[in-house]
Amino acid sequence: MVLEAHDFSLYSPYPKAQTLSEWLKESHRLTLHILDALKPGQENVLYSPTLNPPYWEFGHIAWFHELWAHRLGNFSNLSILHQADQLFNSALVAHRDRWQIEIPDISRIRAYLETIYQKTQDKLQSSLSKQEAYYVQLVIFHQDMHNEAFAYMWQALGYPWFGGSDPDNEPPTSNNSFSTGELGHQSEDILVASGSLILGAKPNSGFIFDNEKWSHGVHVPEFQIASLPVLNADYLEYVEHQLHVGDSQIKPAYWKKDSGHWYERHFDDWQEIDLARPVRHISQLAAQDYCRWARRRLPTEYELFSLMNQPSTQWQPAGLWEWTGSTFAPFPGFSTDPYVEYSKPWFDGNYRVLKGFSSFTPPRLRRTGFRNFFGPDRFDMFCGFRTCAL
Ligand SMILES: [Fe+2]
Repeated sequence: MVLEAHDFSLYSPYPKAQTLSEWLKESHRLTLHILDALKPGQENVLYSPTLNPPYWEFGHIAWFHELWAHRLGNFSNLSILHQADQLFNSALVAHRDRWQIEIPDISRIRAYLETIYQKTQDKLQSSLSKQEAYYVQLVIFHQDMHNEAFAYMWQALGYPWFGGSDPDNEPPTSNNSFSTGELGHQSEDILVASGSLILGAKPNSGFIFDNEKWSHGVHVPEFQIASLPVLNADYLEYVEHQLHVGDSQIKPAYWKKDSGHWYERHFDDWQEIDLARPVRHISQLAAQDYCRWARRRLPTEYELFSLMNQPSTQWQPAGLWEWTGSTFAPFPGFSTDPYVEYSKPWFDGNYRVLKGFSSFTPPRLRRTGFRNFFGPDRFDMFCGFRTCAL
């Protein structure tokens, strides 16, 4: 199926303007809450390839929102902020340069966020065209993703918890959305018979990202996949074994051992490791090492997608993004959407697919069709994994 240029006209139906207004309000409120909770000095973050300077990231959210919802992606429609494109275009401002450029002070960035937000809320007072509805959804989901990125950045920096996907949430003692319930804590392999699977989105099935184009059939041979994600208990056994054989590099990033007890840092808070919770902040490379030790393997994207469409009485989501062994690649029929940098630059073979969602992902982004992707060395996102029998 070749559908170019204005594919977003095929991303119907779209939510009512009132729903979009509520989503936007939620996402915006969380962003401001994160910004306002920053204590003086915390905006200064040392250079890291996986972080952004926080103030730059707030400006980038407002810039992206304005570019698509109000400038319709056209750079010759001027921004209300002087030099916004030179400052906040993530495709043009090289990662390292984000620490060097002089950005406006935070009160101006906050005012930029507020003004653009209000402009969109005004627009949402009347009904929308397909194009407007598409762009408004795009900017809300973009903001949601950056809000989640703030959460894992705060985790990396050891900053206090700011309230997750809803500022009113209680801090989770660990992964608050994980409960094994009737499944118990013993993982069992689920046998999934071979069959053909439909992956990718069909036109007019609602909002999608370009990497979900288009629906196609895939034959998936029989496989056996764990009903539970790998738990801290499982991973601890592996870590202790590796330490015993002299591998001192094995410890997960936010773990420490003190007086014979293992602790995990949740934001700024060290807690004794809860053995019954899914292990998190494990890179795909480390997950594969674990699999070799456990004589298991990571599921493919197809297998994990298939599991996620099984009845929820049979398996338990991790409350974390779950790694697959699959390289992020275009589906047949892929073409870029107006935000060209969303997927296409990352189809170079260096990224792996994650499925599911974390407890920091708002419900509107929790879809089995959603394809997340990161480099295999990344562990800072809220990610975990489950395994398949060899
Ligand atoms: Fe972005």
